[in-house]
Amino acid sequence: MSNYIRLTNNLENLKLNKIQEIIPSYLDENHDKSLIDCLLDLTDAEIAFRDERARKINIMVSSFPYHKTIADFDFSYQPTIDKAKILDLISLRFIDKKSNIIFVGSPGVGKTHLATSIGIEAASQRISTYFINFAVLMEKFKEASKENRVEKVIKHYLKYTLLIIDEIGYLPVDKDASYAFFQLIAARYEKRPTILTTNQSLPKWGQVFGDPVIANAIIDRLVHHCDIIKITGNSYRIKDRNIFDTED
Ligand SMILES: Nc1ncnc2c1ncn2[C@@H]1O[C@H](COP(=O)(O)OP(=O)(O)OP(=O)(O)O)[C@@H](O)[C@H]1O
Ligand SMILES: [Mg+2]
Repeated sequence: MSNYIRLTNNLENLKLNKIQEIIPSYLDENHDKSLIDCLLDLTDAEIAFRDERARKINIMVSSFPYHKTIADFDFSYQPTIDKAKILDLISLRFIDKKSNIIFVGSPGVGKTHLATSIGIEAASQRISTYFINFAVLMEKFKEASKENRVEKVIKHYLKYTLLIIDEIGYLPVDKDASYAFFQLIAARYEKRPTILTTNQSLPKWGQVFGDPVIANAIIDRLVHHCDIIKITGNSYRIKDRNIFDTED
């Protein structure tokens, strides 16, 4: 067996897949480099490949509803949004500060898009991130409370460094689920940042949670360290359509 075949077998055994892939062209193109430079080039390529793969996996397991970043966001369409503020949030400084973000606004103004953009940035930097719809989370709490395992569910969502809870306010929730949600927010308070989106202004959360006392306790903990981004504008979903047109 030639040494070249033995080398490619070794690369396969060691799972150095990127080096194995590029070695034929690398050997063709680099005749005058020192051994150290060659090894450095090849190991750099393997590390870059692994980093990129880990980044993609981290984004995938974060369960975002779509892959949209801040580059896809048209700030000119939504002039009430302070772009500099959003760019500061994208820098992820808020994660170090263990501070929260709440996006408030009517349907289609870009709440989920912005929350997702920040989440994708965090996941790209290998920060453990998870995106969940509020109604799905409430369903999980409801099921768990029937089986006496609410604490386990809270523990599960506590483990993510960044948790994104989308669409608070579209459906009212029952008391058990509301209380479980309060426990989750209380457990994350000052330890782990949370991003929330809602179509309801905070004073209306009493109706969402079916109990103004629980709603106040939730809001109190959330807003202590928090950026509240209020978006007032038209829905992007209907930007090119005149829905008030009465003609068919
Ligand atoms: N300013 C914008 N620039 C580019 N795309 C936008 C903008 N605002 C919203 N979109 C797009 O419009 C769609 C709706 O936006 P998004 O999902 O963020 O709405 P939302 O505020 O979360 O609404 P809802 O409360 O109904 O969930 C998405 O496809 C999003 O990418
Ligand atoms: Mg949304």
